[in-house]
Amino acid sequence: MAYMLGLDIGTSGVKALLVEDSGVIVGSALQEYPFYSPHPGWTEQDPQDMWQGTIAALAKVLAKFNVDPKEIKGVGLSGQMHSSVFLDNNGQVIRPAILWNDGRTTKQCRDIEALVGKDLLLAEACNPALQGFTAPKVLWLRENEPENFAKVRWLVLPKDYIRYRLTGQINMEISDAAGTLLLNVKQRTWSQRIMDKLNLPMEILPSLVNSAQIAGEITAEVAKLTGLVEGTPVVGGGADNACGAVGSGIVKAGRAMISLGTSGVMLAHLDTPTLPTGGTIHMFNHAVTDKFYMMGVLLSAGLSYRWFRDELGQMEQVVGNQLDEDAYTLLTKQASLSSPGSNGLLFLPYLTGERTPHADGNARASFFGLGANHTRKDMIRSILEGVGFGFQDSLQLLRQAGWEGSAVRCIGGGSKAILWREIIASMLDLQVQTLNSDEGPGLGAALLAGVGTGMFSDPTEASGAILQVTSTVDPNPEWQTIYQDLYPIYQGLYPALKTSFEQLAKIAPTLCV
Ligand code: XUL
Repeated sequence: MAYMLGLDIGTSGVKALLVEDSGVIVGSALQEYPFYSPHPGWTEQDPQDMWQGTIAALAKVLAKFNVDPKEIKGVGLSGQMHSSVFLDNNGQVIRPAILWNDGRTTKQCRDIEALVGKDLLLAEACNPALQGFTAPKVLWLRENEPENFAKVRWLVLPKDYIRYRLTGQINMEISDAAGTLLLNVKQRTWSQRIMDKLNLPMEILPSLVNSAQIAGEITAEVAKLTGLVEGTPVVGGGADNACGAVGSGIVKAGRAMISLGTSGVMLAHLDTPTLPTGGTIHMFNHAVTDKFYMMGVLLSAGLSYRWFRDELGQMEQVVGNQLDEDAYTLLTKQASLSSPGSNGLLFLPYLTGERTPHADGNARASFFGLGANHTRKDMIRSILEGVGFGFQDSLQLLRQAGWEGSAVRCIGGGSKAILWREIIASMLDLQVQTLNSDEGPGLGAALLAGVGTGMFSDPTEASGAILQVTSTVDPNPEWQTIYQDLYPIYQGLYPALKTSFEQLAKIAPTLCV
C-alpha cells in the first residue's frame, strides 16, 4: 500500500490526514494548540506549539491507522494564511505569530496605501491592503518592536515554517505567498517594487516554490522524532483555502465553495485573474498552477459558534460528554427548534472585527433586537443566520466580479450541520452540496503530495478521481421570504454602528483586565 499524507496547520490545531494512492481517504488525527489574545483585537499563536502539535498529530495518525511510515510516499502541507512567522539568523522564532484574524494593523494598511499607492498594489499584489494580510504585520513589527524587527532574517507563513522544521529548507509556497501582499500575483515572483516602496529588504523573502513541487525531504532528526522515514519528499503545499479548493474540487470555472471553519470563506475558481472590484474581495494564486481564485472572508464564522459553545454552552458540553454526543450537535438541535429569522433576533458575527465586506478591525459582534420573548434557541440560531448573512455579503461581491454559478460545495467543521447548510442555501439562493470528504485543506495538501510524487498528473485529475457530491440542500422558499425581509436590516446595522465600534475600540483596552 502507498499513502499520501496531508498536514493542515490550522488555527484550532493541526490535522494529519492519510490518503491511499487509490484515492481512498483513510482518516485523520487532530492535535489542538493554544490561541492567545494578549490585547483586545490581537490574535497570536506560538509557531513552536504548531511544531509540537505537528509531531503529536503525526504520532496519533500513524498509531490510529497502524500505518508503516515506509508506505508514506509524500507529505503535503496546507495552512492558515497570512500569519507572520519571523525567523532570525539561526532559523529561531523571534516572537509569536501574528494571525490572519488579528486587528492591530489599521494604521499600517493606510501606510501601505500611501507608500505603495492603490494602483501599484492592485496591479502587482492584485489585492487591497487588508488587515490580516502579512505586509501590514511586518510594518507593525518595524514600528512597534524595532528590536525584534532588527533580528528578522526570514519571513515565513505557518505551513512554510512547519515544512522548514520537517526538511531544514526555508521556502515560501506561491498560493500562500499571494496572501502576503508582497507577491506579484500574475507573474508569480516577489514584487521588488512593493518591497522598495515599503523600504523592506528583499532578503527576508525566501525563495518561492510551487504547490506540487518537491521542496525538501524529511531529515534524519525529524525521522527520529516522528517515525516518518528520512528522505520522504515534502511538497510546497498550499494556503488552506487553495488546498481546500483542491480538496473539494474547486478546480474549474463556475465552481465555488463555502468553508465553514474558524473563518468563513466563500471562494470561486478563476481561470484568469480577475482584479477585485468589491474592495474587500481577495484574488490569489490557486494551488493549481497558473489558475486563480477570488474569495470573501468572514473572520469569525465557526469562531462565533465556538465562542457560544465555550462561554454559554457548558450545559451542552456536559450533556454531550455524558451522551457521547458532540456539543455542537446539541446546540444545533436547539437552533432547529427556533424559527427562521430567530423570532426577530439578529447576530453580527464580528467577534474579531470583519474582513469582507467591511475591512474593519474595530467592528465587534452583537445580538440585535433581543427581546424578553427570546430564548437560548433563538440566540443559537441567530448565530448561524448571522454567519449566513455574512456569506450573502460575500456572494454579492463575487456576483459583481462575475461569478455566475448556482451551486456551492460546503466544507469544514460547520458543514456537518444540515441546518446551517439549509440556512445558507436559502439566504444565498444556491444549492449547497457536500462531498464524500469534508476534509478540504488536509485532503488538498495530501493530493498535492500525490501530484508531486507522480501518483496523479495534476490537482484537477487528483480531485476528480476522489470527490463525489453526496448530498444537496436546496433553498427553502418559505425561509427565503423571511430572509429577504431581514437581510436589509442586517445590512443596515454595520453602518449604523461603525462610529460606536470606533469609539468603543478606543476605550475597550482600558476596561480590560
Ligand atoms: C484567508 C484567511 C483565512 C485563513 C484561515 O484570507 O484569512 O481563511 O486562511 O486559516
